Amino acid sequence: MNHTDLLFHLQAYGETDTYPFHMPGHKRNTAMLGNALPYSMDITEIDGFDDLHAPEGILKDLNDRLCALYGAKHSFALVNGSTCGILAGIAAATQQGDKILLARNCHKSVYNAVELLGLVPVYIQPPTDEKTGIAGSIAPKSVEEALKQNKDIRLCVLTSPTYDGIISDIRTIADILHAKDIPLLVDEAHGAHLAFTNQKMCSAVAAGADIVIHSLHKTLPALTQTAAAHLCTDRISPASFQRKLSVFETSSPSYILLASVSECVRFLEENGQTAFLKYAERLDDFSENCKVLEHCTVLCKGKDCLEMHPAFFAFDGGKLPIVTANTNTDGVSLLQKLRVEYKIEGEMAAVTYALLMTSVCDTEAGFSRLFAALREIDCTLQSAAVPLQFTPVPLPPVVFTPAAAAKQTGARVPLQNAVGKTSLNTVWCYPPGVPLLVRGERVTREIAAALENAQAHGLKVLADGGEFPKITVCD
Ligand SMILES: Cc1ncc(COP(=O)(O)O)c(C=O)c1O
Repeated sequence: MNHTDLLFHLQAYGETDTYPFHMPGHKRNTAMLGNALPYSMDITEIDGFDDLHAPEGILKDLNDRLCALYGAKHSFALVNGSTCGILAGIAAATQQGDKILLARNCHKSVYNAVELLGLVPVYIQPPTDEKTGIAGSIAPKSVEEALKQNKDIRLCVLTSPTYDGIISDIRTIADILHAKDIPLLVDEAHGAHLAFTNQKMCSAVAAGADIVIHSLHKTLPALTQTAAAHLCTDRISPASFQRKLSVFETSSPSYILLASVSECVRFLEENGQTAFLKYAERLDDFSENCKVLEHCTVLCKGKDCLEMHPAFFAFDGGKLPIVTANTNTDGVSLLQKLRVEYKIEGEMAAVTYALLMTSVCDTEAGFSRLFAALREIDCTLQSAAVPLQFTPVPLPPVVFTPAAAAKQTGARVPLQNAVGKTSLNTVWCYPPGVPLLVRGERVTREIAAALENAQAHGLKVLADGGEFPKITVCD
């Protein structure tokens, strides 16, 4: 069997007359089901197709190809998104009650891990970019400071690049942590492509992180839910990581998703270099075009550049945050206009920007269409009468750890009445899924105002205990 051909083997198996007295229940009976879903290739872990939780054959080879591609020590193809890799990575690196250093702008999967595993979080607040309000990079000196004040940190977790494309100085941060033998997990869900760009040294695998998690589906040609985890040093044992993965990842992995990981790896192995060079050219041309924009700004494109944002260490040029701060519109209205008037669907809206995501699969025509739309919209905008001021919301005081808060009982009250009380819910805007208020924290006036402001601008604010703007609190 040629192990690089998972897709070929699935297709070939679907064409044999082997009768399936096994899962899945659709029995590959496409004639009966009569729709376009790929039933004929959707199998379970039958003979010859290996076992994702104890890989020895075709799936071990897939993991090895991922490992060689990224230059890790051990890699794991995942089918439950970065979410399961983050949960497994944190579980493999900590024991109940351990202190964990977190960038406050971590994804909610990190907060779920903290609660489920009974960890004690210590937060680093990223700086705020003064021009856009976007959360900046985690500064190495903030990590140093946090370690000075907390001698018993067991793991550090950062997101780089962030949803918005902001990259932290992983090399320096890893060196600071490793001097104290503390492992670093980088949630690189948004950066699986970095290793193939001219920013490859920013990729957390190359920069020395211990555990790196990639959502292949976010920025590479791979189906939704596909991801990869990489162990890059000897600080975390592959056996313990694999064991934790089997806790957080399905025992019935989709072979269609695994074949998509295999095809993504093949694409990168065979066409990666050429495709990423073309992609870089398209981004450069787009950036050049953006120089004519007068009111809105595409972050680090056109007349804007990294040096104008001291809060950013580096920026992923594939992300297009279109900044509306200091214009007479906002991110939500801009995204809506692109959708309704130009049939361009963006990724996310925040109050001061709309986020559009590009990838190696974007076409020249796609970039031209976006630029033409932005140019037209830009001509209709004006400068804001009063320029926005960005002041970061101070972190609320912690009353309980997330795990302790989960055991408390309380009453559901409107947000206004929650000020001064302790929240038993975690509250976030989705996307990006970064909590503003974590269960166990006191609701401050500033946090309540930030949540109200987000909702007033049409952002989706969610609380994990029921419908926002009511939240459950205790005194
Ligand atoms: C920074 C970050 N980390 C992790 C995740 C979870 O990734 P997945 O959806 O692949 O589970 C997301 C999802 O949006 C994310 O933005």
